Amino acid sequence: MSSYDTERDLPLLRGVLLRFAAAVTLCEMDESRAEADLTVRPSTGEGGDAPADAPAVAEMQAYVDGNGSLPRTIRVQGGPPLAVGSTLSDAAGRTTEPLIEELGGREDVVRGRVAVVTGGAQGFGEQIVRALVCHGARVFIADLNLDGAEALARELNAAHGPVTRGVAVDVSDEASVAAMFAEITRFAGGVDLLVSNAGVLKAGSVKELSSADFDFVTRVNYTGFFLCTRFAARVMAQQNRYAPSDRTTDIVQINSKSGLAGSNRNGAYAGSKFGSLGLVQSFALELVSDRIKVNAICPGNFFDGPLWSDPDRGLFVQYLQAGKVPGAESVADVRAHYEAQVPMGRGCRGEDVMHALLYVVEQPYETGQAVPVTGGQIMLS
Ligand SMILES: NC(=O)c1ccc[n+]([C@@H]2O[C@H](COP(=O)([O-])OP(=O)(O)OC[C@H]3O[C@@H](n4cnc5c(N)ncnc54)[C@H](O)[C@@H]3O)[C@@H](O)[C@H]2O)c1
Repeated sequence: MSSYDTERDLPLLRGVLLRFAAAVTLCEMDESRAEADLTVRPSTGEGGDAPADAPAVAEMQAYVDGNGSLPRTIRVQGGPPLAVGSTLSDAAGRTTEPLIEELGGREDVVRGRVAVVTGGAQGFGEQIVRALVCHGARVFIADLNLDGAEALARELNAAHGPVTRGVAVDVSDEASVAAMFAEITRFAGGVDLLVSNAGVLKAGSVKELSSADFDFVTRVNYTGFFLCTRFAARVMAQQNRYAPSDRTTDIVQINSKSGLAGSNRNGAYAGSKFGSLGLVQSFALELVSDRIKVNAICPGNFFDGPLWSDPDRGLFVQYLQAGKVPGAESVADVRAHYEAQVPMGRGCRGEDVMHALLYVVEQPYETGQAVPVTGGQIMLS
């Protein structure tokens, strides 16, 4: 007789629930909470392995047939009560948001989906979090900067209800990534979309760049993507075993135009991004059998974001001070120089990335691709 296992039973059970409602979250509640509407056996098999039986499918069907709706609390024998809802409640209380039973249409591509955005506290990540919430997703804002992630979560929850949660992570640290996915599983039961966005840049000549800086960039941008995919794929694979067979989940790396063309005096960054596309293609080949798509989005420069526009440390100020743009006398001159290199005459924005993100999630018949979003600056051959 096997016993309750959070990381095995929650994603499996969420997959079963997704047969009955298009958007479901499953959250461990305090042991002292009310009796469960439905109690089921734990699945057999070890965590991560294929279970020997289909957990709770028959019990769930019988419950729905008898009651006309899904249970709002479930207990897997030996485990805590689980709140069934569609928002991110905390363990102290059950969610009250009605389950979303039917979805359809472009505006519903991510509605009710459980997403995690790494590096979600600022920059492109923040823009993606905001847009996902507006499109009805439930979003874990994962960042090294937990204060920033929680501040954004508070702001969004005040406006939209309990739909986001800040979570601490260092994507370059295996134990930290493992803990993040354990937390996500306890608070949502599974995950549908990983946006692997956290990234860092240390520019410098190959003749000057220190090994420490090279390793730092590689560890966050390249190894971090591997670690996040590894733990996300484990949860998604369990969940997808019993979810409807036409339902896929997505891993999307926010790459860069520097993953498609070399970047002068920026080799550590470009190398980490080129290498990540090798991971994207390889993971896509393997995970297709788990119904997980893996794609990359390659944005052009985000001139309005903090990396470029921070008044003290932004690249515009740095390039002005370093005299990198001949004849430039102000930040505006430096910006104009870079904008002129983009055929569409402006930098990339969060909404441009979001168009691509919705496309790769909505497109059921594509995986292992790198989608440029560069205003025509990079064209695929
Ligand atoms: N800014 C651009 O012009 C541009 C262009 C193309 C691609 N990108 C890519 O977009 C992504 C986001 O870039 P951005 O410019 O918005 O970044 P940013 O520096 O504005 O924000 C990055 C966020 O990631 C977090 N972070 C950093 N290291 C982390 C770690 N180890 N673990 C968890 N979180 C961490 C930071 O705290 C921050 O909140 C990166 O992958 C970057 O390579 C950026």
